[in-house]
Amino acid sequence: MKRIFLALSLLALISCGQDKEPKEVTVEETKQFDTVDVHSFAKRWEARVQHLDLDINVDFDAKQISGFAEWTLSENPTADSIFFDLDEIEIKNVWADGQETKWTVGETDPVKGQPLVVHFPEGTQKIKIEYVTAPSAAALQWLDPQQTHDKKHPFLFTQSQAILARTWIPCQDSPGIRYTYNAKVTVPKGMMALMSASNPQEVDPDGVYEFEMPQPIPSYLMALSVGDIAFASMGERTGVYAEPGMLEASAYEFADTEKMLEAAEALYGAYAWGRYDLIVLPPSFPFGGMENPRLTFVTPTVVAGDRSLTSLIAHELAHSWSGNLVTNDTWNDFWVNEGFTVYFERRIMESLYGRDYSEMLATLGHQDLEETVADLPKEDTHLKLDLKGRNPDDGLTDVAYEKGYFFLRLLEETYGREKFDTFLKNYFQSNAFKTMTTEKFMAILDSNLLATDSTLIASVNPEEWVYGPGLPNNCPRVTSERFQRVNSTLKAWADGAFSFDEMETSDWSSHEWLHFVRHLPDTLSLDRLAVLDEHFHFTTTGNSEVQAAWLTYSIQKGYEPAFPAAEEFLIRVGRRKFLTPLYKALIAEDPTKEKARAIYKKARPNYHSVSQETIDAMLK
Ligand code: BES
Ligand code: ZN
Repeated sequence: MKRIFLALSLLALISCGQDKEPKEVTVEETKQFDTVDVHSFAKRWEARVQHLDLDINVDFDAKQISGFAEWTLSENPTADSIFFDLDEIEIKNVWADGQETKWTVGETDPVKGQPLVVHFPEGTQKIKIEYVTAPSAAALQWLDPQQTHDKKHPFLFTQSQAILARTWIPCQDSPGIRYTYNAKVTVPKGMMALMSASNPQEVDPDGVYEFEMPQPIPSYLMALSVGDIAFASMGERTGVYAEPGMLEASAYEFADTEKMLEAAEALYGAYAWGRYDLIVLPPSFPFGGMENPRLTFVTPTVVAGDRSLTSLIAHELAHSWSGNLVTNDTWNDFWVNEGFTVYFERRIMESLYGRDYSEMLATLGHQDLEETVADLPKEDTHLKLDLKGRNPDDGLTDVAYEKGYFFLRLLEETYGREKFDTFLKNYFQSNAFKTMTTEKFMAILDSNLLATDSTLIASVNPEEWVYGPGLPNNCPRVTSERFQRVNSTLKAWADGAFSFDEMETSDWSSHEWLHFVRHLPDTLSLDRLAVLDEHFHFTTTGNSEVQAAWLTYSIQKGYEPAFPAAEEFLIRVGRRKFLTPLYKALIAEDPTKEKARAIYKKARPNYHSVSQETIDAMLK
């Protein structure tokens, strides 16, 4: 343990050395705050916030948010200035307890943006900042009516994780800093506003909404959605918001949400956030889901009509414990959020739909992981990352999710489910509303679970999993009988043993179909692909996972009948996970990139900045 703190204080010293006003961090201070976040200017050991009162106006014409962020300082700061993070935000004025005060905006760092330094007299409690966002603010996507599902009204949504909150609120944008918040948000009349907080269920005639988040959260969980939005209840504590034209389908798709919530609580303890609602966003939402507290943001591409892609809801719900309750201290510890969440997600799915269902998910995860590990440079395959000088987005890979998952699964299998569940339940309870570094987790693991049977530690080798590259040899094996059946069916068909009519596929879920498409042999002729498509309608399937995999495969194989659908998909959908392999396939097929660029030209205006940035880099 001592060794860890020494290393941490060293880290703190090094990173402080690069700030303009170097300050030594004592070992005592690092004990309190553990580490320094290389992605934030905030010096949390000097001065930090504990509450936010936000009062903002949303202007669709100017594509701007403007207003006031009033921060209550934590008690007893050790400095007379506080550092906030900013990116592209224009600061109008700053007050310390109602008096104008001295402030400066520092130089721009290519990853972090700018520091806002506010000086304040001793004893100051509140820092009030007047500001306006830029139309290009990276967290915000302003959609024209035709970019929405119903095509009638404009729409705005935010995506703050990892470090984009600073583009719409001047804040200490570091996951290790938590605060409670109240907000007043004024929007055009007729529109609804929702946040990661207590939410309305009806439109306010004046367009003025008040929100409350009484539990302390980190800035990356700040979220706002504004649009023509309606609500449907799904259970006592659960409901779904969507554009009116998507509401019924969404409520049908996610009808098991309340059951998931109950299953999650039965596993790892009471849900801490009051209600759990979903909002189904327009198709440009760059992620599958985002665990904004009390209100998960969801891509419409999981509204498949058959409830087959709802593990995503289990995932975002699980973040209410792993992530939102126990939070990665910095983005180098991202696996502590995502690895635990994938583990928890699969336990929820197992308890609702059985082991053979969750084993399909684990198998697909294992496939993703093997591909990712093969593609990434070695140092990016560690669980604990070192992202100094890089965008935290670089750490957003299957390693955090799936290697993290398999590490926890190994612990479960080694120590037994009962012991492991007790350990996890205690872990969430004793670290609720706190941050977690990888090192702290390793220490907790050591003195709790591992200490129950020290003879087993060597067989796990936690250090290799966390600080070493690739996938260790003791990675748990996953076997999915349902997928084995798919394998033999596929093989028999590919070998010409029988035709489709003889294939037993009537009870296949979309996971089986995804596995099927992922394992189509490389050698199939275009004629056989056409026959396959004619029979199973992959090109036009409403299941986005199967469709995206098929379209990617079709581009790789030069199966032209699927090209128009691929183009349509790329223009309509902005979910980055689907876009990347599709563009990659287009580039491989036409290395001049002309084809990919021609489609991107039409599609780019529909994408959120998160996706734009990724595809820009691929096509430059
Ligand atoms: N919190 C993540 C999304 C995220 C991570 C956004 C890092 C920005 C930076 C969310 O919980 C997530 O993991 N979403 C996945 C779906 C999930 C089922 C694996 C996604 O969007 O694909
Ligand atoms: Zn997640």
